[in-house]
Amino acid sequence: MAKIEKVALVGTGILGAQIAMLAANAGNKVKAFDPVPGAFVGTYNKIFADLKAKGVNPFIPWERWESCRDAVKQETDLGEAVKDADLVIEAVPENVELKNKVFADLGKKAKAGAILATNSSSLPISKMEVSSGRPEKCLNIHFYFPLQGVNMVDIMGGTKTTSETMQAGIDWIKSLGCVPLKVNKEILGFCFNNVWRAVKRQVLYTWGNGFVDFRDADRAWCIFTKMKEGPFALMDKVGLDVIYDIEMSYYNDSKDPKDMPPDALLKMIKRGELGVKSGKGFYKYPNPEFLDPNFFK
Ligand SMILES: NC(=O)c1ccc[n+]([C@@H]2O[C@H](COP(=O)([O-])OP(=O)(O)OC[C@H]3O[C@@H](n4cnc5c(N)ncnc54)[C@H](O)[C@@H]3O)[C@@H](O)[C@H]2O)c1
Repeated sequence: MAKIEKVALVGTGILGAQIAMLAANAGNKVKAFDPVPGAFVGTYNKIFADLKAKGVNPFIPWERWESCRDAVKQETDLGEAVKDADLVIEAVPENVELKNKVFADLGKKAKAGAILATNSSSLPISKMEVSSGRPEKCLNIHFYFPLQGVNMVDIMGGTKTTSETMQAGIDWIKSLGCVPLKVNKEILGFCFNNVWRAVKRQVLYTWGNGFVDFRDADRAWCIFTKMKEGPFALMDKVGLDVIYDIEMSYYNDSKDPKDMPPDALLKMIKRGELGVKSGKGFYKYPNPEFLDPNFFK
């Protein structure tokens, strides 16, 4: 298969915007579509401010951010965005009906031979591949928070994905400077998300049922792992609405009551407390208390 050089992002929220930046940084020609005008730049600004406030040394050097941002061509029409792409990645909200609709559109609007991938955290591509009309070209390509330096990417095929499609995806991930984590047979949660998910589920359970304060769970995690952010801070960054949808996907799959996200999380979402993107989640932004040295005293 020819090398992937033209990439289209469908949905430029917290993850789609980062993937667009990475592809631009690698020299790909990048187009993006999002129904919300200014979504890409809005997300870019939020991530920029968040990483600056935390003093993070980003994956793309700061001096290249503006040029990468400007290299991502915004399209107001989905067809225009994807028509000449070698690879299209959708990063729309975690909803299987919506994703199937997007894959059906992409199957019609992307050029023949283009690879269609989902960045979904909890939906295996086998749940969308049929809608695309080209299951052999479908992949899960799952990023974490690459601009912060989490440069590992799960890659997993569906029921008909060819080895050429898989290899093209792996080569592209490497060309971005990321580490591909190949999943050999379908599993919910891929290589690493399974592990992160177990942590998330447990801390949501102990907080949501009133056993512990979320701050203590984060303090414990940071002291134990030497990380700068605990699981609740990480969930704020992901977006609490996204976390809720992902947890619901796991619950819908297992029907195990222990997998049901707590009501307290849903109440926060209904109050508009979505995490970093809304300025408040478990913590308040841009200066969350876990960045204060007194947090650990
Ligand atoms: N947030 C994370 O840390 C994270 C990590 C890995 C994977 N993911 C996955 O990435 C996907 C997106 O998550 P996110 O956090 O970026 O969500 P988000 O809510 O930040 O962004 C979603 C974007 O999709 C746009 N959108 C909605 N409907 C659309 C449509 N029909 N066509 C095109 N764009 C549309 C929205 O306007 C929004 O800009 C989800 O599948 C999620 O599981 C998220």
